[in-house]
Amino acid sequence: MSSDPLVIFTPSGKRGHFPVGTPILTAARQLGVDLDSVCGGRGICSKCQIAPSFGDFPKHGVTVSETALSDWNAVEERYDRVRGLNRGRRLGCQATVQGDVVVDVPPESQVHRQVVRKAASARPITMDPATRLVLVEVQEPDMHEPSGDLERVQDALRDQWGIEHVHAGLPVLRKLQPALRKGEWKVSLALHTPANTEQTLILDVWSGFHEGGLYGLAIDLGSTTIAAHLCDLVTGEVLASSGLMNPQIRFGEDLMSRVSYVMMNPGGDVEMTNAVREAINTLAGEIAAEAQVDPALIMETVVVCNPVMHHLLLGIDPVELGQAPFALATSDSLTLPARDLDLNALNAEAQVYLLPCIAGHVGADAAAVALSEAPDKSEDLVLIVDVGTNAEILLGDRTRVLACSSPTGPAFEGAQISSGQRAAPGAIERVEIDPDTKEPRFRVIGSDLWSDDPGFAKATAATGVTGICGSGIIEAVAEMRMAGLLDASGLIGSAAQTGTTRAEPEGRTHAYLLHDGTADGGPRITVTQGDIRAIQLAKSALYAGARLLMDQLEIDTVDRVVLAGAFGAHISPKHAMVLGMIPDAPLDKVTSAGNAAGHGARIALCNRAARTQIEQTVGRIHKVETAVEPRFQEHFVAANAIPHATDPFPELAKVTTLPAVAFGASGGSDGGRRRRRRS
Ligand code: FES
Repeated sequence: MSSDPLVIFTPSGKRGHFPVGTPILTAARQLGVDLDSVCGGRGICSKCQIAPSFGDFPKHGVTVSETALSDWNAVEERYDRVRGLNRGRRLGCQATVQGDVVVDVPPESQVHRQVVRKAASARPITMDPATRLVLVEVQEPDMHEPSGDLERVQDALRDQWGIEHVHAGLPVLRKLQPALRKGEWKVSLALHTPANTEQTLILDVWSGFHEGGLYGLAIDLGSTTIAAHLCDLVTGEVLASSGLMNPQIRFGEDLMSRVSYVMMNPGGDVEMTNAVREAINTLAGEIAAEAQVDPALIMETVVVCNPVMHHLLLGIDPVELGQAPFALATSDSLTLPARDLDLNALNAEAQVYLLPCIAGHVGADAAAVALSEAPDKSEDLVLIVDVGTNAEILLGDRTRVLACSSPTGPAFEGAQISSGQRAAPGAIERVEIDPDTKEPRFRVIGSDLWSDDPGFAKATAATGVTGICGSGIIEAVAEMRMAGLLDASGLIGSAAQTGTTRAEPEGRTHAYLLHDGTADGGPRITVTQGDIRAIQLAKSALYAGARLLMDQLEIDTVDRVVLAGAFGAHISPKHAMVLGMIPDAPLDKVTSAGNAAGHGARIALCNRAARTQIEQTVGRIHKVETAVEPRFQEHFVAANAIPHATDPFPELAKVTTLPAVAFGASGGSDGGRRRRRRS
């Protein structure tokens, strides 16, 4: 047995004997312990902090004396003086082994640290981004050894970090010489190594040690909204989240009308490409300003989107996606320079990663949902519904996963709704209607009070009550159904039929008055018959898509349902089921996942292996094309009724009884007369 001291690392449990005088960082590297370093052991970056433990450790069979590590050296003292080192911490590159020792590697010193999950359903992320920072010390030029500065940087990366096949573009070459000389031949480099390659691109260079951090953007590019998270590429932390409306809306509200616009207007695709790229640049600038980060430090972005958005972002004419067989220009993942997409708000060498598309109408956003929610690893049969203008639907378990995309239209996002608005302060997001009095109460974004609570007017004075957002309209329609204001066919009853003057005539139909703010100069917020129709179309498309996948597996029920989407976290499972958005399931088995596509984008941004994983998973997902499945129309028509014309909802019946009212001349569903839109 070795007489050299024993070094035990926690929490990994890795151990080994090392000669007296070995730096802890060296021991960690030899044992494959996950201990970070950016400066390569020069005592500059402080990423290698460790916490030694002293005393008896019967579990490990060692006793650690106070002298098990070398004394503080001048580098640690200077670091502590200038920056401060937490009590009990040492720099792993400076402290050397003197005797048996137990060394803890705190989470922030682990390269592959796990990002704490916020939502219970969100999968934890292990940090392993494609872009990382290293510091190198480069040989000075020599008259007798004529080599370029870049070649000597390449040598330094090989010798000091074991990194080979390094190249650099013109923006970096232009900065390299002054950076090297200013840094006295020490430079920090942002290196980008995509998954599955040996090639490394230098994205940027700074003299000396770069303290400004490296950042990435995870973008969920939807038909109606564009949402982005700005992430720290070292910690994985989300520093800011923001969103804006997709400016392509002016060319058509849904996808197919945008494809039609391109067909009717030569050059229309270029207009839409420019509009979305400009919007992403604006969003990147805004989100960086909010987080007080220099946008030039955004080194990478991951974009998830549906196939039409995908093609328009890339500047590829999407007309093939408007007709069967819905051929994509490519379904593979892509890694591209951001400048090729005119994303000039980011770093000059920033890279873009687009997740693979599943096929036809099932895009990279569905792939991102699969990455986030991992149906392919689920023991039970899970239905995942990502609610947006186009819904992404996944059904499966460890044995098989099916996917489809369904044209719900923008109603769930508050568009096409008479009093609809984006989810912003002042928007009604929760609704309750008393089944006896038919009187409503509601909550708006920005206040926790209900509208009949004392102090509501004061609490909402700044924002007012401005409209109704996606989750609000879902609750309003479901509550109207539960209160007997709406029949199963979706007709709103008259004042005489419902017994409330809130049911107002509107042309030949009726509307329900939710809030009248006119006395204070605010709007009258009603739910009109047209709103109900828009919601019925959207929910029927969603339900029909889910049923189509269930048909393929020859099943009538699922074990659990996950509601995802930009506002997925805000949809009440009970209201979604009353409306018939989702198939019947025990209510406690219906959960919300928040923005799963956005979370999937964040996973791919922070972890290279996840990119490889989803590229492989996508190949195994079986895609169902709703546009050419004859049963889709049949399911769609039956799903127009609230909750459904034919499918039973036994689990829903356990928690609520829907009144048997009928307000139409025939009292039956008029669903068969309505036509489905494809978006
Ligand atoms: S490795 Fe950078 S300070 Fe220790």
